[in-house]
Amino acid sequence: MTPIKKLFPKRTAAKSSKPGGMGEKIPRHVAIIMDGNGRWAKSRNKPRTEGHKIGAKRVSEITEAAMRSGVEFLTLFAFSSENWNRPKSEIDALMNLLVISIKTHGKKLVKDRVRFRAIGNVSALPKKCLNAIEKLEEKTKNFDGRNLVLALNYGARDELVRAVRKISNSAKIGEIDPNKIEWEDVARNLDTADIPDPDLLIRTSGEMRLSNYLLMQSAYAELYFTDVCWPDFTAEEFSKALKEYGRRERRYGLTGEQILER
Ligand code: FPP
Repeated sequence: MTPIKKLFPKRTAAKSSKPGGMGEKIPRHVAIIMDGNGRWAKSRNKPRTEGHKIGAKRVSEITEAAMRSGVEFLTLFAFSSENWNRPKSEIDALMNLLVISIKTHGKKLVKDRVRFRAIGNVSALPKKCLNAIEKLEEKTKNFDGRNLVLALNYGARDELVRAVRKISNSAKIGEIDPNKIEWEDVARNLDTADIPDPDLLIRTSGEMRLSNYLLMQSAYAELYFTDVCWPDFTAEEFSKALKEYGRRERRYGLTGEQILER
């Protein structure tokens, strides 16, 4: 296995979405659907929770790889608003893992000056999770340039409904004219208000759908699907995704010629 430091030599400054120091184009924001923990475990005759445990280790590895590569924002889908329908024992294991990971991995984030944030309907999480999240958010709130965002109890439709409610309430008290509502007004009421849109969205485990993840924000994201399950998604696999991103031409509805002229 290639060591992470060799795959991603330290940079002095992020080179987001522009040709980087090593001649490549780095996405400013990478969003990941970490999928396949259960199948990974099942194929090894292990309990599903074992897949989550190894998956949590990958979270640290990929965060380090992303930050070293110059990615400014990494947003990981850690628990969806639909995941509550799983067996209680699995939910409890995931919540415990989350608290342990935030506590242990949090130290490295502080050391590396990475800002930590959670998006989603976080207030509905168990108190011990909420406490751990709030503590780490507070400790890292003054860092910028490198950001780890966890989507927890997150669903894009739920996020949109919450945004519409906020905007409707502003309209009701006359703060905003309903006929003048623009996309920017919607965007600033989403959980990602001060986070740029993802440039690259990765999903592991061979599934090719977005599963209610950052639907509005990913309107122009490059999609990368891999058969590799999340517990096997190493820094090396991450580097393959970045290389593939570097080969893509992003057009935002323009022609290739127009892009060249810009
Ligand atoms: C999808 O695999 C993964 C999850 C629902 C949870 C993701 C959680 C982790 C990676 C571990 C803990 C997270 C953090 C942030 C420390 P799945 O269970 O849906 O797999 P399957 O589709 O094979 O059943």
